[in-house]
Order: sequence, then structure tokens, then C-alpha cells
Amino acid sequence: MACFFRRRIAEKLGRTLQQSEEAFIPALSAVPVFKKQQAADFRLSVSTLRISGILPSSGDIQLQTEDLATRLKQDADAVVEDISAGCAVINFRLNRTLLAQKTLEPFGKGEDDKFGLNSELFKTLKRGTTLVEYSSPNIAKKFHAGHLRSTIIGNFIANLKQSLGNRVIRMNYLGDWGMQFGLLGAGFGQFGCQEKLKQNPLQHLFEVYVQVNKEAEHDEDVKQAARDFFRQLEQRESEAVSLWQKFREITVDEYQQVYKRLGVHFDIYSGESFHQDQAQEVVQQLQSRGLLKTVENGAGVVDLSPAGDMSSVCTVLRSDGTSLYITRDLAAAMDRTEKHHFDEMIYVTDKSQVNHFHQLFQILLAMGHTWADRCHHVPFGLVRGMKTRSGEVVFLEDVLDEARARMLHNMSQAKTTKEMENPEDTAEKVGVSALIVQDFKGPLLSDYTFDWDRMLQARGDTGVFLQYTHARLRSLMWRNEGVEAATFDPSLLLDQASVVILQHLLRYDEVLYQSAQDLQPKHLVNYLLKLSHMSASAHRELPVKGSPQDVAQARLRLFSAACSVLANGMRILGITPVDRM
Ligand code: ARG
Repeated sequence: MACFFRRRIAEKLGRTLQQSEEAFIPALSAVPVFKKQQAADFRLSVSTLRISGILPSSGDIQLQTEDLATRLKQDADAVVEDISAGCAVINFRLNRTLLAQKTLEPFGKGEDDKFGLNSELFKTLKRGTTLVEYSSPNIAKKFHAGHLRSTIIGNFIANLKQSLGNRVIRMNYLGDWGMQFGLLGAGFGQFGCQEKLKQNPLQHLFEVYVQVNKEAEHDEDVKQAARDFFRQLEQRESEAVSLWQKFREITVDEYQQVYKRLGVHFDIYSGESFHQDQAQEVVQQLQSRGLLKTVENGAGVVDLSPAGDMSSVCTVLRSDGTSLYITRDLAAAMDRTEKHHFDEMIYVTDKSQVNHFHQLFQILLAMGHTWADRCHHVPFGLVRGMKTRSGEVVFLEDVLDEARARMLHNMSQAKTTKEMENPEDTAEKVGVSALIVQDFKGPLLSDYTFDWDRMLQARGDTGVFLQYTHARLRSLMWRNEGVEAATFDPSLLLDQASVVILQHLLRYDEVLYQSAQDLQPKHLVNYLLKLSHMSASAHRELPVKGSPQDVAQARLRLFSAACSVLANGMRILGITPVDRM
């Protein structure tokens, strides 16, 4: 395992430089593999040692590097076979038989799903309770591409944090309050239909909402009725409340079904409505701390300008005394700290809300809530052109249906497709992986153009390719079930195709570490795509069938490791690996 080798090299460095070996762990990294195997397996960054004060930061860095390499070489050892100076780095080449043995050892012990997770790299990470808020659609309104992105990104972050040993609370914060309910309430009597509401709630609520909105544009009476209904709701009048409750309940039920298809779940369905009353308390607290200013039109604002000259303010109270989106968010954040005692809280929304969250955290800090420093916003870019064959996407379900239908079609066309019990289910899982990989390949902040054909390609860098590779490896395992034995001979894995996979496996913990640092899924996605490419070529070059028993055994161990790491990584991304396709 990477740990074993990193530790051995660190010990060596510690002895040579008379320092604690711990200090070297962060400066060591596994060498990334490009196509061909690398001569070195690990490298040490000399500039990191200079920055951390282990080596003098003055003087010629290259001389320093060469000098250190020479000293290290004197401490010969059976694990590290060769040491050489590169450009401000020191390269370490491991004994290749040991590389295979140590890396593949955990896979014979039934510890496949823990591979890489106990790495010492994670020792410095803070573990605790992480609250991740994601998806957060608005009732009766469109579920847009931004909500889909928030759903899958939030799910990834929650999965990652959980695998690294945190307690994770998954929260959905519904847009379940505000004037849209005034309109819905007023319009439902006129345009609503109980039957349709039962059959297709999301669709029907949306239709009613669109229709009543249109009416309200030119009809003052409708507008007035909406205001009246919303007031009744705010005053907790039972008829209004029970209609609202019904809308909310059926929406949540319906969403839960759709989230299930995506492989996503939530521990808590919270929403803006929960914090309506608390929002007024927040306003009072702001006032008592002298943070609330009333402006000309009667609205309440908080001055956020550095100079205190009101050049940048945030409105927290409308002139009619009602609260706003941010006021409810302030209340919600305070409520969550109290109830869930989180160590960190992560909000996932599109980048148009960067300023909103910045202001939210700023106001919390101004109120003396130092824990606001442990709240983070993960913003992402826009998706262009998310359309289905029947037109614009309104519901999440539309996207999932289309992904499944297209995938089913592709599967029926492909000659390689296997017989399976439930092709629809497989098509759904593979379709979802295609959506996820397309979305996660680049930096989250970048915008991208949605492209059905490209994301569903079987051979490109797609979710389909990940699934295909995984299914092939799984079937290789089955077909050879008798062969795989408890032991294997690592010296039979010294060929190029095996070594690149082993070298790549050494990097898995670093890649997870990197993702945990910046919460970007691209590191893991690209890692898994590369692992798939390597495994696919190894599969072609290293036959199992027809090879002598010991060779077959060793190769199967290698493939089973690749398959497990692929599956583990896919699960963190939010993809359910399929065994057959
Ligand atoms: N419902 C909001 C929207 O659709 C997103 C909510 C994000 N979370 C929050 N705490 N403000 O834009």
C-alpha cells in the first residue's frame, strides 16, 4: 500500500536528515503515470523541505537536491531500490516485486472497500460532523439544471466526507415559502384538479403556478387574492396551512422517488418555511446589537461596507415587515448549529449565489457567531442546453427518463451487450453515471454545454466507459472464480501493463486527499478514467485464460484490485457500479 512505502521512504529521510519522519510525509507523492510506466514510483519535493525549514532555504536548490540524493543512497535498503536526483526533486524507485506484493495484499483480505481510506495522509484532516446542504429545489417551480448539479455535487461531497470518517448530515433545504404559495393557493381553486394532483403532483403544481402567474400579470384581483392567501399562511390560518402542507408533502414524496433513481438520499428535508418565525427573531437580534439600519423606504438593512458608510448594504427586512431569503438563511444557519452541532457546514449552489453566501457569513460573523468561519459555499457554473427530445427540461424526472431511454437504445444497438435480467435498470444506472461524469470532469466553477451524444459514448472519457470497464472486470472475476486463490506470486507482475496499474494505485489516497481539500470531483473522475484505460489495455495484453495457473492467479489479483478501486471510487462519485452490461 502507498502508506507502507511512504512510511519507509520517510523513515529513510528521517535517519539521513536526523529529523522526525512525520515531517517528510507531506513532501512525498506518488509519481503520476502517463501511458508508460515511470522509472520512479515516489518523489520528494525539495522545495517543500525548504519551505518547511527542514533544509536551508538559501543556496542552490539543485546542489542541495544532488547532495541529499547522494547521502540517501548510502543508506541502502531492500525496499527502495534506486534513488536519483531530478529537477528539485528526489526520485525513489521501489523494488517492483514488493510494489506488487504490498499494493495487492489488502485485496486478498476482504478489505477491498477500505483500500486507501486509512492512509496516514488523512490523519491531519479534521474529522467531525459535516452538514451538507444540497439540491434544495423550489416547490411548484422548475427543477433546473442548477438543481441537478447541486444534487449530484452535494451527494459526492457527502459521500467523500463520509468515507473519510466524518459523521455526515445530508440536508435538503426546500424553497417552500414565499409569494409562489400565495399564487398557488389563490390559483388552485380555479385551475387545480385533485385527480391530477394525485397522479402527477410536480407537473400539476407547476402547471397551476404557470397559469395563475399569467393571470396575475393582467388581473389585479388575482394578485390581491395571492397576497391575501399568503397573509393567511403567514398568520397560520388553518385552511391555508393545510393546503400548503399538502402541496409540500406530495412534492417531497415525489422528489424522494426521483432521488432514489439518482441514488441520492437526505437525512433531513428542511425548508425556508421552518425558519419563518425565527427570521423575525434574527431581525430583533440584529437590532439589539445595533446592526440593523432603517433606510428611506422603510426597509431594514445591515451595513456591510468596510468603511461603515452604507456603501454596501444587505436588506434583511422588507418595508412591509416580511422577511427575505437571506433572513431565513440567517435563522436556518443559527438553528442548525444549535440542533446539529456541526463542525463544518457546506452549501452547494450555482455561482449566482456567491454574493448571497458571502453576505450571509459576513452578517453571522458580525453577530458574533464565530462558527460562521466553518461554513463554506461550494459554487458551480451554469449548464447550457439541457434539453430532451420533447423540449425544455422542467423536471428532474425528464432528464432521468431521457438518459435511460437513450442508453437503452445504445445498448440494444451494441454487439457487445450482454443478456441481462433488467436492462431498464442497467440503462438507468449507466445513464446516471454518464450525467455525473460529464458534470464532474472539469472544475465545478466552469460552465459547460450539455451534450447527450458525447456523454453517452461508450469509448470516450465517459461514465459509460467506466461502467463498461467495471462490468468487464467483474465478469472476468466470475469466469475464473475457481482460480483466484489466497496467495499469489508478485514476481509475475513485472511487465509494463501491470506496473502502470500498480503505480497508479499508489496514488489513490493522494487523489482522495486532494478532493477532500478543494471539494472538486475532477481529481477522482480523471483518476478513475485513467484507471479504466489502463485496465482495459491490461485486459487485452495479459490473458488469464490459457495462462499457467500461477500467472493467471497473479493477474486476477491485479484485476480484482483495479476493479475494486474502480467500484469504490465510482461509489464516492455517486455512481452505482453495474456488474453486467
Ligand atoms: N431554493 C434555492 C434556489 O433554488 C436554493 C437554496 C440554497 N440554499 C440556501 N440555504 N440558501 O435557488
